Amino acid sequence: MSKPDLDVHRDPVDVTGALRDDVRTGLSASRKWLPSKWFYDARGSALFEEITGLPEYYPTRAEREVLGREAAEIARVTGARTLVELGSGSSEKTRLLLDALREHGTLQAFVPLDVSEAALAGAVGAIQAEYPGLDVRGVVGDFTEHLGLLPGEPPRLVAFLGGTIGNFLPGERAKFLRSVRDVLTEGEWLLLGTDLVKDRETLERAYDDAAGVTAEFNRNVLRVINERLGADFDPGRFAHESYWDNGNEWIEMRLRAREAMTVTIPGADLAVRFAEGEDIRTEISAKFRQEGVAAELAESGFTLRKWWTDAPGRFGVSLAEAGR
Ligand code: SAH
Ligand code: AVI
Repeated sequence: MSKPDLDVHRDPVDVTGALRDDVRTGLSASRKWLPSKWFYDARGSALFEEITGLPEYYPTRAEREVLGREAAEIARVTGARTLVELGSGSSEKTRLLLDALREHGTLQAFVPLDVSEAALAGAVGAIQAEYPGLDVRGVVGDFTEHLGLLPGEPPRLVAFLGGTIGNFLPGERAKFLRSVRDVLTEGEWLLLGTDLVKDRETLERAYDDAAGVTAEFNRNVLRVINERLGADFDPGRFAHESYWDNGNEWIEMRLRAREAMTVTIPGADLAVRFAEGEDIRTEISAKFRQEGVAAELAESGFTLRKWWTDAPGRFGVSLAEAGR
């Protein structure tokens, strides 16, 4: 298959500069942290895909159940001509929406956006082959920066699936939802996937599988820093942890130093000391309740029109209309 045409809004020099800034900020903080978007180079995207098939990681299956059941209704209600997908990854579940919108007769264009060029190139190539005649325009970009550049005829349906909204801190989440609302015209649509609050054991296992795939995904951020900034992290010297923070209602993924060490990061002009047992917070994955999702959507200028969950009520999907 030839390499698909992608619209690239990320210059490799800017990407390295942005990583350098994030590493300086996060690893000089008294409680160390890194933004989760840095998991996703080609290897990180492939590991995430593997996670979606693990027995412990229920969100992908639960969301697919809802989309399989409701895609025709989503197509009927929205009549979308353009499907935009943010953080699209492999766009595997998205095919359910593409099929339903095509069947409904309105679909003209599909615009997936992702920071991971590798994941996007794979998805765009496959979807172009599977949906001849569909205008597929992949955008390599950051959904916190590049929403203004999205092409496509209205009415547009913006899909943000997988529960990725949970990977923002609450303040960033409100800002992000507002920015999505701002690029839409009144009457256009947002389809939002949110993982729901449940018992600690199910949640912590979903982020710490028996096969160790999530642990490798977590450590991948250290490999990305090694590659881009010439650092000398030894990923094996960090233990993977998943922790349910009941007060904040989010999962935290952490990497905990197994021993004291100093890591040098030439590309960030930094030497970082770790005490034995000190951790880096690498991701939060917030879990939601229906009332909270409805309130956050309303505060951002959306009206919740439909709310669905999978049969056991593990994962919620909202269809919201951009209001005045
Ligand atoms: N939507 C897919 C993939 C979820 S994984 C699903 O439901 O299975 C999260 C995806 O968001 C990854 O493909 C990752 O590369 C992308 N991503 C993470 N942070 C991003 C950002 N700031 N801008 C754009 N894409 C981002
Ligand atoms: C992409 N995001 C919604 C995933 C999640 O569940 O928060 C990322 C992930 N982290 C560990 N496993 C999967």
